[in-house]
Amino acid sequence: MTPEAEIQHAAVALKRGELVILPTETVYGLAADAANGEAVARIFEAKGRPRFNPLIAHVADAAQAERIAVLDDRARRLADAFWPGPLTLVAPVRDRAAVCDLARAGLDTVAVRVPGHTRARAVIAAFGGAVVAPSANRSGRPSPTTFDDAVEETGAHAGAALDGGPCAVGVESTVVAVMDGALRLLRPGSVTRDEIEAVAGPLSEGGGEGHRSPGRLALHYAPDAPVRLNADRAEAGEILLGFGPVGQGRWSLSEAGDLRETAANLFRMLREADREKPRAIAVAPIPAHGLGEAVNDRLKRAAGFVG
Ligand code: TXA
Ligand code: MG
Repeated sequence: MTPEAEIQHAAVALKRGELVILPTETVYGLAADAANGEAVARIFEAKGRPRFNPLIAHVADAAQAERIAVLDDRARRLADAFWPGPLTLVAPVRDRAAVCDLARAGLDTVAVRVPGHTRARAVIAAFGGAVVAPSANRSGRPSPTTFDDAVEETGAHAGAALDGGPCAVGVESTVVAVMDGALRLLRPGSVTRDEIEAVAGPLSEGGGEGHRSPGRLALHYAPDAPVRLNADRAEAGEILLGFGPVGQGRWSLSEAGDLRETAANLFRMLREADREKPRAIAVAPIPAHGLGEAVNDRLKRAAGFVG
C-alpha cells in the first residue's frame, strides 16, 4: 500500500468501529472513534483497562479541540505554544457526543490533544472526528515506542496498524487540567513544568494523584522483572540501565547524560532488558530536573513505588 492508501485504510477501519494501532510522537496509541461507545468499549477490553480511567481525545487541530472542550485563555495560550505536540489539556466538555461517556469515564471534563506526528494527524483528518487513543500496551505494562512493540502488545485486537517509525519523544504527553481557575499538572511529560509555567503562569500545588487523575495507578509501566531504582552498579543476575557515567555500553539510556535521549530509550530498553529475564532491572539515578521529572515518574511507577 502507498502511504496515502495506508492512511485511508486506517480511517476506514475507524469508521467501521475497529481499533487502529496509531503512531504518535510520544508512544504508539490504540485508537478508536471517540463517538462510538462500542468501539471505545473494545479499547478497554483489549487493554484490560479499568473503566474509571478516561481516554485522551486526539484531534487534528486546535479548532476541533475547541468544538469538543471549553478552553479558557490559559488553555488557549498552552495550545498555541505546544500544539501540535506532546501536551494534553483537560477542560470542561462542550460536545458530549463527540467523545462518548465511556471514553470520558462519565466525567464532565475531557482530555484533548493535537499529536505532533504527521501520520497521526493525517489519519484523524481523513477520519473527520475525534479519535481516542490510550497507549497501545496492555494495562499496567510499559508503553510501546516502536511499531513492533505496539503490534506485540495489542495488534491482535486492531483492524489496521500504521507504522510511523520509532517514537521521537518516548514518554506520554504532559497532562494539564485547566479549569475552575486552576492550572494543575496531572501527569508530567515531555513538555516540562517550567515550559508550562512560562506560558500559562504558576501551576497549583498538589497536582494530580487524587480523583482528578483517575488513571494514575501505583503499579504501571511495569516490566515482568522487578525494577530497582538509583542503582550505582548491577547486583548478580541484574541488568543495569545506565545513565551518563554509570554503566556504559549496550544498556545505557544515554551515555551523554541527555534526558531527551533517555526518555526516547526508556520504555524500549525496559522491554529489551525484560526479554533477557534478569533477576531484576536496576536503573542508574536520573536527574530530577526538566524532562527528568517525567522519566522518574515512569520509573517510580515501573518499580511500584507510587501509592
Ligand atoms: O502521549 C499520550 O498521551 C499517549 C499517546 C497515544 O497520545 N496516550 C496516552 O493515553 O498516554 P493514556 O490513556 O495511556 O493516558 C491518558 C491519561 C490517563 O492518566 C488518564 O487518567 C488521563 O490521561 N485523563 C484522561 N482524561 C482525563 C480527565 N477527564 N480528567 C483527568 N485525567 C484524564
Ligand atoms: Mg498508558
